[in-house]
Amino acid sequence: MKKTMKVLSFALALIMILGLAACKGGTSPGTSPATSPETSAAKSPAANASLKVGISMPTKSLQRWNQDGANLQQAFQAAGYTVDLEYAGDNDVPTQVSQIENMISSGYNVLIIAAIDGSALTEALAPCKAQGITVIAYDRLIMNSDAVSYYATFDNTLVGKLQAQSLVDKLDIANKPGPFNFELFTGSPDDNNIHFFFNGAMSVLQPFIDSGKIVVKSGQTQESQVTTKDWSSANAQSRMENLISQYSYGPKGTKLDAVMSNNDSIAQGVAVALQNAGYTADNFPLICGQDCDKASVINMRNGFQYSSVFKDTRTLADAVKTMVGQIAAGQTVQVNDTSTYNNGVAVIPSYLCQPVAYTIADIGKLVDSGYYTWADIGGDKGTLPLDGQIK
Ligand code: BGC
Repeated sequence: MKKTMKVLSFALALIMILGLAACKGGTSPGTSPATSPETSAAKSPAANASLKVGISMPTKSLQRWNQDGANLQQAFQAAGYTVDLEYAGDNDVPTQVSQIENMISSGYNVLIIAAIDGSALTEALAPCKAQGITVIAYDRLIMNSDAVSYYATFDNTLVGKLQAQSLVDKLDIANKPGPFNFELFTGSPDDNNIHFFFNGAMSVLQPFIDSGKIVVKSGQTQESQVTTKDWSSANAQSRMENLISQYSYGPKGTKLDAVMSNNDSIAQGVAVALQNAGYTADNFPLICGQDCDKASVINMRNGFQYSSVFKDTRTLADAVKTMVGQIAAGQTVQVNDTSTYNNGVAVIPSYLCQPVAYTIADIGKLVDSGYYTWADIGGDKGTLPLDGQIK
């Protein structure tokens, strides 16, 4: 039995090495398959069973990673792959490292990893290349590692741009004299994504800051000044509370027009601080976010968050499933970005899915596409204060 497994995993490693060799140089979307039709990705589930796919997710405490994990597991199981899905406690780096090490020593052929700390996996992944294990960085880039073959994510710069643009458009900053008071929040400093989210947002906001139309009273406009460890709502709430007391923001105090928040868990913490400061739905500062978390969609229906960037995790799971199918079949892996994501060792061929900005008007789309039921997001349409604006 052990011997058969060894032969099998060797054969698979070989298939994958051939697959990876086939992708070198030909990574643009739509490039034709590098192999013959017999090695087509549309293998039967039974044929796929010998491919072992390890999925490593950062935490169960944030809705999106539960969805991502479930979508990936379901997609790979449906295709017949052997799947191991692990969550690293609540963003616990040593747990993630040891789960990945176990997958490697248990003969997993493909690892799909959403890193907690993008720079903490170099050692754990060191054996992958020699063992023919394909590593796909999922959503967050894994830094300083030669083991990373592909990166599947959303267009993260566009996420930041959409967030900031939603605030600028709603306040009509281009046409109104202002000044508009903003505060800025980005995510965890160990997540490589924040550079893209924050820079994307600042590419929209900076010209208005430079012209004086947007004022950040705290003066905290550098990424390193506005991070939120672990993307935690509690950390965001406490920083917002400090800003409120230092600059007297409040419905009767200093006007606060908007908070640029790079995701929903931060937006939710900021919203609590603003509610505690006396803001209500009719005077609430605009807050943007990302993920269309259930709690944030409910906040949008209640008037406590203005927008959220929707990243359909089903699309990302499908993109990764396609990648793995192409790898297993020795086909060219389709990517659509070969220049943006340098992990310190190489530019990683990436597949970027498209994000889209949602406001209250768009919430019905989440239900129509089957992403949520009305019950998931606060009950039937028509029950919450801003529901009249849902199209
Ligand atoms: C993801 C976001 C998520 C955040 C917190 C980021 O890397 O791209 O979708 O909100 O992590 O988990």
